[in-house]
Amino acid sequence: MDLLIDSANLEGIKKIYDIFPVEGVTTNPSILKAAGKEPLSQLKKIRAFIPHGAQLHVQTISKTAENIIKEAEFILGELGDNTYIKIPVFDQGIKAMKILSSRGVNTTATAIYTPMQGFIAGKAGAKYVAPYVNRLDNIGFDGVEVAKNIHDMLERHHLNTKVLAASFKNTQQVLTLCEYGIGSITAAPDVLEQLINHQITSIAIDDFNKDFASLVGEGKTMLDLGKTK
Ligand code: G3P
Repeated sequence: MDLLIDSANLEGIKKIYDIFPVEGVTTNPSILKAAGKEPLSQLKKIRAFIPHGAQLHVQTISKTAENIIKEAEFILGELGDNTYIKIPVFDQGIKAMKILSSRGVNTTATAIYTPMQGFIAGKAGAKYVAPYVNRLDNIGFDGVEVAKNIHDMLERHHLNTKVLAASFKNTQQVLTLCEYGIGSITAAPDVLEQLINHQITSIAIDDFNKDFASLVGEGKTMLDLGKTK
């Protein structure tokens, strides 16, 4: 399962990249607003920081297919290879996805709340489809189930499209999709950090360190052992 960072906060992105094996960064207009910077220069900073082959997903705003395509061309011109054009799944968005993917542009269908939206976007050639897991949970649906349904339909119909599940608020949602074999997820830095943090693990590490210190001295590591020879 690919892991992406759902953020435009450069410090948060750097912190996650330093530790985690991740494939790239996803953004949307609300995420750019939260970063509080001029969007294009912020996106360029993110692109300059992440590895050359990493994905950067950038969303279009326009309401007509014609203008979405123009925005896509502009975004690709500014941000280069491995930039995925995120397009919401409304009628003009699907039309734009169909045209852009026929031209070899990588697109990500976003704001997906139903399995059929995901399926149609896949048929329109989107490389990724992004169901909003937690937002679905919040309106009384089962976001994880919707993501699984889309994953199954894409596989069953042999579409070359992966689920990029988005909108997570807890690690259980991520775990369930990982167990299921979902293609990729994107989550905010705080959710990604929680994937590895556990209080019991911290206690175990402290106990190991105390035992080692009582054996060879405070603050010592294996490296200090060689010095006594
Ligand atoms: O990538 C889509 C995602 O950012 C939506 O997440 O947290 O706003 O529900 P959220």
